[in-house]
Amino acid sequence: MPHAHISVDPRFTIGPINRNLFGGFVEHLGRHVYDGIHEPGHETADDEGFRQDVIELVRELGVSTIRYPGGNFVSGFRWEDSVGPKDQRPRRLDLAWHSTETNEVGLHEFSSWLEKVGSELMLAVNLGTRGTLEALDLFEYANVSVPTELTARRAANGRDEPFGVKIWCLGNEMDGPWQLGHRNADDYGKLASQTAKALRQVDPGVELVVCGSSSAHMPTFGEWERTVLHHTYDDVDYISCHAYYEPVGDDLDSFLASAVDMDGFIDAVVDTADHVRAVKGSSKRINISFDEWNVWYQSRYHDVDRIDGVDEWPIAPRLLEDEYSLIDAVVFGGLMISLLRHADRVTSASLAQLVNVIAPIMTEPGGIAWRQTTFFPFSITSRLARGAALDVKVEAPTHETSRFGEVPLVDAVATHDADAGESAVFLVNRSQTDDIEVTIDLSGIGERKIRETHTLADADIHARNTLEDPERVAPRPNDTARLESGVLTITLPPVSWNAIALA
Ligand code: AHR
Repeated sequence: MPHAHISVDPRFTIGPINRNLFGGFVEHLGRHVYDGIHEPGHETADDEGFRQDVIELVRELGVSTIRYPGGNFVSGFRWEDSVGPKDQRPRRLDLAWHSTETNEVGLHEFSSWLEKVGSELMLAVNLGTRGTLEALDLFEYANVSVPTELTARRAANGRDEPFGVKIWCLGNEMDGPWQLGHRNADDYGKLASQTAKALRQVDPGVELVVCGSSSAHMPTFGEWERTVLHHTYDDVDYISCHAYYEPVGDDLDSFLASAVDMDGFIDAVVDTADHVRAVKGSSKRINISFDEWNVWYQSRYHDVDRIDGVDEWPIAPRLLEDEYSLIDAVVFGGLMISLLRHADRVTSASLAQLVNVIAPIMTEPGGIAWRQTTFFPFSITSRLARGAALDVKVEAPTHETSRFGEVPLVDAVATHDADAGESAVFLVNRSQTDDIEVTIDLSGIGERKIRETHTLADADIHARNTLEDPERVAPRPNDTARLESGVLTITLPPVSWNAIALA
């Protein structure tokens, strides 16, 4: 059996793990909000129409901040439509997803749902088809306590206290030609800077995210970040990264190594931000808000799901409802390892998305809610990854991939919470054929007890959880794990994601 060796030492700290790394994203898209989190006729619906079975699953998932309301949707969104008496809210065309938006759920309702799931709001403003003034109005409506026309309107709509939103996104994917109001980097950078300065005039303490590239594969990648940060460096706290992965043809070896691409993306954005820092002679560091990441079979959306008829504007259509397989979950778990490996600079991240739309949670109208395969790496990592991320040294066999060259067959990261005396190690086996035995030298940590082990693997790497068979795939304890004299030995099955908690 191939063998890998990992050394874990708490002295080699990458950085503290910000809880915002375990954020999510809810967009008004398909059946995410309507028929997803909100289904008034459902047997579990509460007095506001929110499905309580979904609320319980979101709580179990362990999501910190939730980015809202888009995504591409936000670039055509008038926030005023979504507040006030429900029967007076207008129906609008949502150009991003070629749907009808009823505005039945808006800022107040969503905020109430967030209280139920125990997550915090991260709001995106429309800098595509709207500008600084509308962003300021929303900011005042949401975050200001003194009486003004806008805050009185908020109170009249049932909310005396401000929503207190801490993190704001200055638009969405403004580099993408598909984006309503798409701009070049100079124009967007100037608008973002002006808007950020205005919001900071209201509250200097607000945290702001400027749009980076919508993917590392955009033709403007790198130059976009440099230009946008040149305009906004002093005004913002984060630059965003977005990345989605899917297999190309039947090249599963490259797909399994997607985290290599994510590592390179993050390193390139950090380098670009630090280049601008050097040029400006600034002492401030810009961090990354990786506010859209996931496996997404984007080609299916373009080839099959896309709606474009001039008279076709459905409400809550089934869009982007990817069913995730075991291999998707292993890739997904690898992406979480990459995020943790960059915990010093990726201090906020949002899994895109949460319910029904490229989501870890699925629902059937009038029926059940269930966990997709990707639910498990997220919920377990969110629960176990505490304290600081550690830089582990992995010595593993490698193999050649067509997209990323030679990559190690085992990838791993560790976390250590000195106060609680707890550690965790997260690992993937990217081999499609071999079990790999891994020895983990924990002598530097001093933990002496295995608390939990989880292995997500399956003889059928394409197995999924579906409406008909919602519990087909689930993690199991790994009985091969043993700890002797500070060395943990564990066997990782082929195509597997694994977690070990130590106390
Ligand atoms: O998450 C789906 C879409 O992907 C978002 O609306 C957009 O920001 C990105 O292109």
